[in-house]
Amino acid sequence: MEQYAIKGGNPLVGEVEIGGAKNAALPIIAASIMTDETVQVDNMPDVRDTNVLLDAMQDIGVLINRKDRHSVSINASQVHNFVVDGDSIRKIRASYYFIGALLAKYKSAEVALPGGCDIGCRAIDQHIKGFRALGADVKIEYGLIKAHAERLKGSHIYMDVVSVGATINIMMVAALAEGTTIIENAAKEPHVVDLANFLNSMGANIKGAGTDVIRIRGVHSLHGTEYAIIPDQIEAGTFMFAAAITKGDITVKNVIPKHLESITAKLLEIGCEIEESDDAVRVVAAKPLRHTQVKTLPYPGFPTDMQPQITVALALSNGTSIVTESIFENRFKYVDELIRMGASIKVEGNTAIVNGIGQYTGASINAPDLRAGAALVLAALAAEGYSCIEDIHYIQRGYEDFHLKLQMLGAQIEKVDSSKELQKFKLKIG
Ligand code: EPZ
Repeated sequence: MEQYAIKGGNPLVGEVEIGGAKNAALPIIAASIMTDETVQVDNMPDVRDTNVLLDAMQDIGVLINRKDRHSVSINASQVHNFVVDGDSIRKIRASYYFIGALLAKYKSAEVALPGGCDIGCRAIDQHIKGFRALGADVKIEYGLIKAHAERLKGSHIYMDVVSVGATINIMMVAALAEGTTIIENAAKEPHVVDLANFLNSMGANIKGAGTDVIRIRGVHSLHGTEYAIIPDQIEAGTFMFAAAITKGDITVKNVIPKHLESITAKLLEIGCEIEESDDAVRVVAAKPLRHTQVKTLPYPGFPTDMQPQITVALALSNGTSIVTESIFENRFKYVDELIRMGASIKVEGNTAIVNGIGQYTGASINAPDLRAGAALVLAALAAEGYSCIEDIHYIQRGYEDFHLKLQMLGAQIEKVDSSKELQKFKLKIG
């Protein structure tokens, strides 16, 4: 099994290019089904989740043409099947975007119930509520969500919880429904806005994305487009925290600094210096880190997808910090692994009480999910001695060339596949 072998201790220094946002790419890939014309998508991240989705599209007759590693053209004029099932698709969360996209275009969708990282119960009731409000009949049978409609008609929908996935799914269906839909208490994440911009570039009429209220006037059909995905806010945030955790100096390039404000604010609070330009942010961690409090919230609050990374930093800060996870109830699983590296953290319900220590020490640990996996890699890079991180397939779901980008910043990290390769790494690094 592939794992990362790491020798910690080097401050990470240099520049890193951030790729396209995974969580924008996933709905954009699915929404490409909503026209018979060709859609060209640029700045596509080459990560496992996007590739699983693209492969699943081919299974239902969509033509995928990869122009280069980050550019793909999608033509869905030959779709012959509205059932999306299979081993890989069952493992990812974003499979649910096929329901919205297929239902919008063909008024019929049968899609495997979503999987994804095990970070909480991850209900889909708000998606179903939205589909039903727009006129679809929805049921769950044999592990599939089945949605069918005679007519899709605009509606006024109040979301009981702020949900990225449900907001996006409802937006897709409403874009091709008759009349006007209003989504209240909508999610405001940058990827929600990106999907709205993508659909508008195909001829949809969506206003207010990025605010609490989104108004969608349904159109009869959508046309082809050429679109570039926004930079990945969480990949950028992960490298920004890599600077803090390893006491380094990293410039993340190709980013939208506005999307990173809550992350930047916390880094400033804990004592990092930040320099911003139009499309780059530099993080310098020259002084000892300070403790703070943080609570994850929907955008523009501090992202739940950055919670493990900030905890890894706070566990190395002076004093006691409090981290509250308010989005997913099971997102502290990595804490046990961090404790194996010497961290002093106590989890009580959805709160972690973090007492700063001087340094981590290397250990063999498991990545429990995507973001926690990346955060543990950062901990290992700051640790004294060697670490091995197993289950790195989680990390590969959402970070392109993670270890290669870290190597460019001076990290001693390699992907190894056997104990022989691990020994070789240790001999090489010394
Ligand atoms: C998206 O998940 C992201 N995934 C997650 O990123 C991210 O953590 C999350 O949004 C929050 O920002 C993708 O974009 C593929 P939600 P999603 O619906 O859409 C509750 C990563 O690491 N809820 O906004 O599944 C739910 O239980 C991943 O890249 C309902 O109650 O998240 C949660 O508590 C992990 N009913 C909260 O809302 C519903 O119908 C937010 O979930 C839907 C959600």
